[in-house]
Amino acid sequence: MQIDIITVHPKMFDGPLNQSIIKRAVDKKILKINIHNLRDYSTSKQKQVDDYQYGGGAGMVMMIAPIANAIESLQKNTKYDEIIYLSPDGKKLDQQICNHLSTFKNLILLCGHYKGIDQRIRDKYITKEISIGDYVLSGGELAAAVLTDSIVRLLPGAISDETSALSDSFQDNLLPPPIYTRPANYKGLEVPSVLLSGNQKKIEEWRTSQALKNTKEKRPDLLDNK
Ligand SMILES: C[S@@+](CC[C@H](N)C(=O)[O-])C[C@H]1O[C@@H](n2cnc3c(N)ncnc32)[C@H](O)[C@@H]1O
Repeated sequence: MQIDIITVHPKMFDGPLNQSIIKRAVDKKILKINIHNLRDYSTSKQKQVDDYQYGGGAGMVMMIAPIANAIESLQKNTKYDEIIYLSPDGKKLDQQICNHLSTFKNLILLCGHYKGIDQRIRDKYITKEISIGDYVLSGGELAAAVLTDSIVRLLPGAISDETSALSDSFQDNLLPPPIYTRPANYKGLEVPSVLLSGNQKKIEEWRTSQALKNTKEKRPDLLDNK
C-alpha cells in the first residue's frame, strides 16, 4: 500500500509514523508513506497556503491552488483509490471503514488547518471525508496518523500474528474478553482457572461469553448492529 499525506506540518509525522508496526511495515516494503509539504506546491513567493474567508468571518481558509497543484501532481504518477480529507464533519471513523480502506493500494490523506479548506477542493477532488471523533483538532495531522495506524495494522504481514488484529475490539461488533499473562497468581490475584485448563473448547466458550458481557456492559449500542 502507498499512502501520500499532504500537510503544512510534515515534521509532525516524524514520531508516529517512524515507530513500531508502521516502521516495520515500511521496512518490510508492505507500506510506502510519502509526506508532502503543501507549501512546496504554492506558487507565491511567500509560500502562502491560506487566505481570508470570502464573506468575512474569523479564521483563515486553505487556498484552492496549492492543494489542487499537490493532488494533480501526485495523480500524474499514481492512480488513487481514495482521496481523503480529514475533517470533523466527515464520516466518523470506525473499524469497518479501516477494514475497507486496508484493501486499497493507493490513498491520499489531506490534512486541513486553520478554518478548513476551500469548499471547491472538497467538491472536485475529495472522494471521502473522515472524522476521528466529535471534537475539533487544530489540524488534520494527528487524525491522519490515527487513520494510518488503524489501516496499516490490518495489512497482511504488518503484525506478526495476523489473527490478532481480527480478534481486536469492534471486529464483529464485539469488545474483547479480558486477557491475562504470567504469573497465574500475583499476590492473590488469580487468572480465571478455565484459561489454565488447556481445554480449548471451554476457553473459546468462556471468551465468547465474556466478550458479550463486556459489550453489554460497556457498549450495548454495538449489539444493535450485530
Ligand atoms: C481547526 S480544524 C477546522 C474545524 C472546522 N472549522 C469546523 O468547524 O469543522 C482544522 C483542521 O483540523 C482537522 N480536524 C479537526 N478536527 C478533526 C477531527 N475530529 N477529525 C479529523 N480531522 C479533524 C481538519 O483537517 C480541519 O480542516
